[in-house]
Amino acid sequence: MKSVNIGLIGLGTIGRGVYDVIENSGELISKRTGISLSVKAVCDSDKKALEEIDNKNILKTSLAEDIINNSDIDIIVELIGGIEPARGIVLNALKNGKHVVTANKALLSGNWNEIFKAAAENEVFVNFEASVGGAIPIIRTLCMSFVADNIQTVYGILNGTTNFILTEMSEKGCSFDAALKVAQEKGIAESDPDLDISGADSAHKLAILALLGFGVNVSGKDVYTEGISLIGSEDICNAADWGYSIKLLAIAKDVAGGLELRVHPTLMKSSHLLSGVKGADNAVFVKGDLIGESLLFGKGAGRKPTSSSVVGDIVEIARRIVSDGGKNSLPYNFCYMPEGKKISCIEDLMIPYYLRFSVIDKPGVLAGISSILADNEISIANVSQKERKEGETVPVVILTHKAKEGNMRKAIEKINNRDSITAKTVVIRIEE
Ligand code: HSE
Repeated sequence: MKSVNIGLIGLGTIGRGVYDVIENSGELISKRTGISLSVKAVCDSDKKALEEIDNKNILKTSLAEDIINNSDIDIIVELIGGIEPARGIVLNALKNGKHVVTANKALLSGNWNEIFKAAAENEVFVNFEASVGGAIPIIRTLCMSFVADNIQTVYGILNGTTNFILTEMSEKGCSFDAALKVAQEKGIAESDPDLDISGADSAHKLAILALLGFGVNVSGKDVYTEGISLIGSEDICNAADWGYSIKLLAIAKDVAGGLELRVHPTLMKSSHLLSGVKGADNAVFVKGDLIGESLLFGKGAGRKPTSSSVVGDIVEIARRIVSDGGKNSLPYNFCYMPEGKKISCIEDLMIPYYLRFSVIDKPGVLAGISSILADNEISIANVSQKERKEGETVPVVILTHKAKEGNMRKAIEKINNRDSITAKTVVIRIEE
């Protein structure tokens, strides 16, 4: 039986999970592949995490160099997350001829060229299935299964924390803060949840999917991003009244004017399959000229699902190492975007909107709002004022037909400056 040696860097939730999967499922993997995976070394700055690895034959170290420079090791698994020191560790590992498996979306989405250039120069592989969608095999699907397709759209729910919060708000009728607290108590949201709540985590993941689907070398910063913290439980109720759910969607769409890349809360028809994606689950739709529409659904986070995905990446590289030394397989050409294709500007987006105004309840207020909307070529599809509180603040909700984002921004700025408006207007895009 051929053996492939692994060095694990980072023994947090996923790192420890990967160690356990190799320990517990190593025999099954050997039976299926004819390869024995052997963890030779582990690295973490936390002494306790190292002590908990109960195997005297494994090198335990707090120095990544001990693993990167170890000539016995074939594959480095980087699971520390963040940009530095992960970037330095990955680049040095590649320069030392090690194959790399990583789940680090922040690192990949901002340092793509550098990492894959180093991999190609050193004839080694970088696998990254767990960087997007946990256990959902979207990376392999885009790279291999759909390689013949012209991809038109990739969109979905790429963040479990925000989907859990929105589901909780919808099912329990609670506030954003209360739902976040539950997510933290259940260990779904981090103690500092900003990366998830702000939409940045989804943006990093969308950048990776855009690269694979459309050949554009973009980072999370190139993705227009809005988080979910301004969504109120009243918005979720209003949306439900009109037959919609609210989801944080990540959308990459090839349109005439360029490539739309955006992450933002979105009203979706309750009958849409993504509306049925609840809790911390993730789902991604891919639309291509040959496949039509395809949906991948599953666990987007968590120790076991993500570890399974990381081990799948390890096994894929191990098979290449065993079959041809890992040197002869061609790397994928990820960046192939045709000349002239650009990322479209958010101001050019044409889309329907949900608008929630906080207004003083008095005659003429709605007329004032609708006249500003009309001046900006925004056509109203539906209006609702449920409460009557003369002289006090009430919510007024308007759904519009498709309007230009640039015009909507001008209109909302003007409306927000009116004396009759008592709080910032909530603006949510609607996907049809
Ligand atoms: N924090 C992420 C989520 C999982 O909530 O989906 C890791 O990307």
